[in-house]
Amino acid sequence: MSSTTTRKTLLSGSRPTGRQHLGNYVGALAQWIPMQDDHDCFFMIADWHALTNNYNDTSSLPENIQYQVLDWMAVGLDPERATIFVQSAVKEHAELSLLLGMFTPLGLAERCTSWKDLVIEQGLEEMRTYGFLGYPVLQSADILMYQAHVVPVGKDQVEHIEKCQDLAQKVNVRYGEVFRIPQWKLSHAPVLLGNDGRKMSKSYNNCIYISESSEEMWDKIRVMVTDPARIRKTDPGNPEKCSVWDYHKVFTDDSRHGEIVENCTTAGWGCMQCKKVLFEAIDAHFAPARERRAAHEKQPGLWKDVLMEGNRKARERAQATMSVVREKLHLYPSNGSE
Ligand code: TRP
Ligand code: SF4
Repeated sequence: MSSTTTRKTLLSGSRPTGRQHLGNYVGALAQWIPMQDDHDCFFMIADWHALTNNYNDTSSLPENIQYQVLDWMAVGLDPERATIFVQSAVKEHAELSLLLGMFTPLGLAERCTSWKDLVIEQGLEEMRTYGFLGYPVLQSADILMYQAHVVPVGKDQVEHIEKCQDLAQKVNVRYGEVFRIPQWKLSHAPVLLGNDGRKMSKSYNNCIYISESSEEMWDKIRVMVTDPARIRKTDPGNPEKCSVWDYHKVFTDDSRHGEIVENCTTAGWGCMQCKKVLFEAIDAHFAPARERRAAHEKQPGLWKDVLMEGNRKARERAQATMSVVREKLHLYPSNGSE
């Protein structure tokens, strides 16, 4: 019992992109899963964030949310131990985002890599919106809402957590200890490239999805781009120039790493053999996920029930935070009854 009361709160999330690929898995999920053992976890599907850069067509949101939840549960996010919820189902996120916006200097928002890249560098007029500029403000609200101690993220998200810390600090300095200052926890996993050697992305059609069958996975691994200098089987390769090696670092048992490097650099084996070893590791890694998925598929409404319960638990926490926030900021105490 006492262990549950001393658990630190964790919040993380991602936008609903639908079926999750190995990049999503290694970059986020794999880090979240073990943290469920000793943290009070909130895993959020950031559907409002998905609108910030894609507000013209929201039609795929429902199925993306469904697939994402199913994949999360398949790999081991456990609704018995963690709260899995949808951002837009907890309207307090909008309220807190609005309030934090009052404290947000424009310069802080404009300092976002994505804003600088899309709006300033590329000059995409359709991205020059109030909502997109507010991306880090909304993300700060997500985190502060749960008084999260820790936010496990990839490198690209650190700038957002820093802004969140700044905003929380700014409010605290003026209004007392309103928010806990969150810390980020960085994933050190390598970034996995798509099987064509480019960034793994749905739009490039180069993803390996965690829901794929063994056969489908092998078909994609088989054609993975390798060290371009290794043209013939007799040419020695350089693992550092090969994304297959990045995959090995994540999925293949450490005890085999020496053998892989040796066989590559001496042309002791061909890339196909190397990929076979990788495939076997990945296939074994996702066997439990396949089993869980098969069990979940026998309960068609399960994902909806999981979200309903998660949304309810998240809302409860959010409402508690917001009543403190309103009180400390001398706002009208609208807790529903007044
Ligand atoms: N910006 C994150 C991403 O693109 C998603 C996100 C939204 C998030 N709110 C968050 C991540 C709060 C961590 C904490 O992946
Ligand atoms: Fe890459 Fe393996 Fe081929 Fe070396 S042997 S180039 S690590 S696939």
